[in-house]
Amino acid sequence: MKKLSIVVLISGRGSNLKAIIDVANPLVNISAVISNRPEAAGLIYADEAGISTEVLDHKDFATRLEFDSALQECVDKYDPQLVVLAGFMRILSQGFVRHYKGRLINIHPSLLPKFKGLDTHKRAIEAGEKEHGLSVHFVTEELDAGEVILQARVPILADDTEESLAARVLQQEHKIYPEAIQLFAESGFRPDRFLKPVRSDN
Ligand code: GRF
Repeated sequence: MKKLSIVVLISGRGSNLKAIIDVANPLVNISAVISNRPEAAGLIYADEAGISTEVLDHKDFATRLEFDSALQECVDKYDPQLVVLAGFMRILSQGFVRHYKGRLINIHPSLLPKFKGLDTHKRAIEAGEKEHGLSVHFVTEELDAGEVILQARVPILADDTEESLAARVLQQEHKIYPEAIQLFAESGFRPDRFLKPVRSDN
């Protein structure tokens, strides 16, 4: 069976990238890892695994559109069937998102549609939520609003801090993101075959 070719975009720590690498899914080939920050720690995981890396520093570009167009060119060199945002901390422009429609996914640390945007753990605690979690979703033009592929729920404990909750959510991210990519690979590369959100109660 032909492997699913993916390109992973990162900006920093890269723990989700590491989880995807470590699962070593036989159906998936990580063609490249691209970072918009030269100092992104996650690049080391790619290097260690012998995966091609590219750095495209957004600071070298005058506008968002120029950066996005260079990024698109860089991603397309690898001709991936799926583009995976793993802690990629840049809003992507409409043209970029449209170009990868149906094959651009992100992981977001909340139970979407709740808590789009930043500081999700803090906001979930402050809102008095009993549970929190993460969502893997398609990226569309509206921030964190694309169709949900997989979610995992994490209870919020009475003594949780932002950090303790973030750590438990992250543990689940590392299980769910590789699983979502596997689903994509198994669906014969047709995202419409698994568009029903699945909830996992880990
Ligand atoms: C994760 O919490 C992910 O949900 C969010 O950014 C963080 C990335 O962490 N989108 P890492 O770089 O994968 O460790």
